[in-house]
Amino acid sequence: AQSFAFHGANQAGVFTPQQAAAAFAAFDVTAADRPGLTDLFRTLTDRARFLTAGGTPPDLGVGSPPSDSAILGSDVPADGLTVTLGVGSSLFDDRFGLAAKKPGKLKPMRTFPNDSLEPKWCHGDLMLQLCANNADTVQHALRDIAKHTRGAMQLRYRINGFHSPPRPSGTPRNLMGFKDGIANPTAADELIWTPEGGSYQVVRLIRMLVEFWDRVSITEQENMFGRKRDSGAPLDGAGEFDTPDYAADPDGKTIPLDSHIRMANPRTPETNPSRLLRRGYNYDLGVDLNGDIDVGLIFSSYQQDLERQFETVQTRLINEPLVDYIQPYGGGYFYVLPGVRDTQDWFARSLM
Ligand code: HEM
Repeated sequence: AQSFAFHGANQAGVFTPQQAAAAFAAFDVTAADRPGLTDLFRTLTDRARFLTAGGTPPDLGVGSPPSDSAILGSDVPADGLTVTLGVGSSLFDDRFGLAAKKPGKLKPMRTFPNDSLEPKWCHGDLMLQLCANNADTVQHALRDIAKHTRGAMQLRYRINGFHSPPRPSGTPRNLMGFKDGIANPTAADELIWTPEGGSYQVVRLIRMLVEFWDRVSITEQENMFGRKRDSGAPLDGAGEFDTPDYAADPDGKTIPLDSHIRMANPRTPETNPSRLLRRGYNYDLGVDLNGDIDVGLIFSSYQQDLERQFETVQTRLINEPLVDYIQPYGGGYFYVLPGVRDTQDWFARSLM
């Protein structure tokens, strides 16, 4: 049974190789006061420590409700679970007297042009990102955590994600058929962690209008992304990991100037500091009210600085051709807390 270390300078689930199943769950904190909030963080730490290591839940005797849902059987496997906890800026409002402790760059998610944000899918005091090898392990962790934190936090929205296997090889594909996650900073990159060991997370729930997309020619699709659909190679290259040479193509004759990869990362010395780590998941919500297929991308990125990185990239992408085929409707900005160092430490200890 694969397991990822829970203790460390940084939380797992950011640079961790992507597991197949995920849930992104935003919560509102309902704890009454600061001691209640401290208890909540301690409980979240204990549950995350247990669930990510796996083990045998305690037997509470026949008279009481079982300590575990048993949906994974009587022993809990680690199953590659990571529990990644982030805090939203609303946690630092007047309720808990934490205003002075707010991470310096944390703020509510902005609305961008072409966004169609639905309040019920936005923001949250906490973001719990659960990733594991199997969907039942993710659900088990969510239910265990919800049960142990009842009265102190309440689900606001939740969306499950899945990560495809390589098809046929290399980087997995998203639901538009393109390999997604090719150009990403490598492990322990200085673009991601703050000096405290945290990271700013951007979650964006982006619906894909797949009925429309599936009627677009491959050439047009490839020009929108700037990469070949089948191989993932940039349009001027042969392999998915070839580096596009924009200097050799200043007019965008091969890789259009308004292609997604070129707008997102022009690869110049001035734009390099805006690079970010993407670790997204596909989602499938079934059917919408109009009878259309309701699927898309749970975009999740990690960076040191929301404005220098995510907002700069998203601003460059305003009005990219892809906007006709996608619809952002939810998400939020969060601060992924520094890692829990050891058995004495707990989430957010430095904030409280
Ligand atoms: C690259 C898809 C939204 C930032 C890519 C690639 C694909 C893709 C297929 C090329 C392969 C790769 O390098 O991973 C999508 C889809 C989106 C979406 C389908 C929406 C549904 C976003 C958003 C951002 C973003 C919201 C950030 C604001 C990037 C970046 C790259 C990239 C930075 C790498 C560019 C490079 O370094 O060459 N995306 N993306 N994407 N995307 Fe997106």
